[in-house]
Amino acid sequence: MTPPLIALHGPGSTLLIECPAGAPPLWRYWGPRLADDFAAGPALVDTRPTPSFSLDQTVPFSVFPTFGMGWFGQSALLAHRQGADFSQAFTQCEADWLEQGRSVRFTLQDDIAKLAAAITITLDGDVLTFATSLTNLGNSPLDLQWLAAAALPLPDNAAAVQSFSGRHNYEFIAQTEPLGRAIWRKENRRGLTSHDAFPGALVEAGGTVYGAQLAWSGNHAQTIEWLDDGRYQWQLGEWLAPGEISLVPGETLACPPVLATCSDQGAAQVAQNFHAAIRRRMDWPGGAMAPRPVHLNTWEGFYFKHDLPALFELADVAAEVGIERFVLDDGWFHRRDDDTRALGDWWADSDKYPHGLAPLAQHIVSKGMQFGLWVEPEMVNPDSDLYRAHPDWALQLAGRPLLTARNQLVLDLSRPEVTDYLFTCIAALLEELPIAYLKWDHNRDLAPAAGRDCRAAYHRQVIGAYALFDRFRAAFPKVEIEACAGGGGRIDAGIIARTHRFWTSDCIDAVMRARMQPGFLQFMPPEVMGAHIGTAPAHSTGRSQSLDFRAAIAVQGHLGAEFNLLELAADERARLRNWILFYQQWRHLLHSQVWTGEAGDSMIWHAAGSSAEWVLLVYRMEPMSYRHMPPVRLPFVDHAALYDIQPIGPAAHEPGGTFDGSWLAKAGLPVPPMKAESAVIYHGKRA
Ligand code: GLA
Repeated sequence: MTPPLIALHGPGSTLLIECPAGAPPLWRYWGPRLADDFAAGPALVDTRPTPSFSLDQTVPFSVFPTFGMGWFGQSALLAHRQGADFSQAFTQCEADWLEQGRSVRFTLQDDIAKLAAAITITLDGDVLTFATSLTNLGNSPLDLQWLAAAALPLPDNAAAVQSFSGRHNYEFIAQTEPLGRAIWRKENRRGLTSHDAFPGALVEAGGTVYGAQLAWSGNHAQTIEWLDDGRYQWQLGEWLAPGEISLVPGETLACPPVLATCSDQGAAQVAQNFHAAIRRRMDWPGGAMAPRPVHLNTWEGFYFKHDLPALFELADVAAEVGIERFVLDDGWFHRRDDDTRALGDWWADSDKYPHGLAPLAQHIVSKGMQFGLWVEPEMVNPDSDLYRAHPDWALQLAGRPLLTARNQLVLDLSRPEVTDYLFTCIAALLEELPIAYLKWDHNRDLAPAAGRDCRAAYHRQVIGAYALFDRFRAAFPKVEIEACAGGGGRIDAGIIARTHRFWTSDCIDAVMRARMQPGFLQFMPPEVMGAHIGTAPAHSTGRSQSLDFRAAIAVQGHLGAEFNLLELAADERARLRNWILFYQQWRHLLHSQVWTGEAGDSMIWHAAGSSAEWVLLVYRMEPMSYRHMPPVRLPFVDHAALYDIQPIGPAAHEPGGTFDGSWLAKAGLPVPPMKAESAVIYHGKRA
């Protein structure tokens, strides 16, 4: 008898799972959309005669493949009870529709190892969300080494994996590696998401692009492994330190969700699918995103030197140029004159702010701007009142030295007295001041990460941080939060469910940003990509670009300015004002669908909006090496439409015209000669 099939059809993709009796559900197909009335043919096992030198009981690739009873690939579970129950086989399996055709739950049980697993797969658009959990049904603790949050099937023609790495000041740089017969594996053990290992990747397979990302802000691992049945398996999950998780009898561990999608329309469609999924995960004050306000951030313009009269004047100038949210960065709190001290002492410095922050905050609000404040709740400096009172609150390992980074230690967020303290201090500020926005920073990796019990505390640190975010969100639902970790050290689909913006990178050199932002936009939508116009030369690189070029790169995301506006000459102030007006006029398109690409001869482009109406930014990075500019091919347009295209923006150039969509897609839009590090911008609309 043919076992039942479960089908999840999205607009562009299909997932098929076969449910044999008494065995875990099997992957049959995940790829481009099948016809509604597809015929899957016979059961998987009936199409596969037992190969030579095989076990007589074949164990095909299931949604939860486990080690020891005939599955020789990577196990979704590595666990034991003091050496026993090291192998598992789930023989009781039920499938229930939570929502017909959209969300299915598999409940699996191993009566010998006394374990239950639940895997829910939910389809929204073309994105599958996996929610996996494991329960210890035995009467002794279960030590966990690995529990895959998802074990995804990839076809045999999977050729290359593109992952994203880098470092502080250089995040989201694409790395493409071929897939072969050896395992591809990427791990992060830094305790937070990390600058150097984004928890997701893309896989190209015969014209279809697969993408997955783990919604988790801690350690993680991904593995892609060739299977001997001619497919690949892609696992994603939380990386666990030795002894970190032991499930007591009856206890359940819930994995972080995995978002997975595929498209035969390329990486651009995978990005669109992820953007839609991230937007669904977000929780905006008031239920919907307000237009993203232009920020002024004080960090690079002022650092720790908070001169109150200058900040008042800055607020005046900021309001004049059109800034909508003024974010007071690091340096405002008790004795915080440099980065050697004061983290943990969350009250205003009485020298810099003799009457507290209220006069400045009120001045900012009176100018029509929102007031935002920087905090770094998870951290403490040894030179702080907090640390002097509670040295044991920092993560530490008995007998080992305290390892500082930027002179700071990490607080143990699994302790209620620690999170109560942090909540009380910061809630007092939120109650007293008109704070619309918190920039929540996290400026170091975790090492050693152990609590009072001397056990690894990475997992519970993330859970503690999430709970603290959630507590603030519940108590102050109107306050937006930015996730920052020295720039892009905590960018993931887990934290974005609790926050509203990422500080993409501490590097705001526009040339560097032009490399990083497309990587970010592969997984996250543009409206959460913090992008600032910095000064020249850029503090992080020492390199200079024109104000126009810096602004043209920054308007791709959620725009801000981060330099001392008081030093701007009058003509530059006017230029900045024009860029802010440009962003305000077009942000409804800029924060919609996005497409990015290369146009040849060191030109790149970024388009945003819809195929009916869009803004196109074309950048030249290096001087021309061709005698003429190559036309820019625009794959996102409607081939059958006519477009009226006009140059726009503060650097507007020659007249536009009417173009045929198929011409734009195949032959390309002609652009004028451009100098290196310059941009031209167009508005295109269906005629
Ligand atoms: C981190 C952030 C910066 C700034 C500083 C303040 O580096 O990424 O934007 O807030 O901390 O100390």
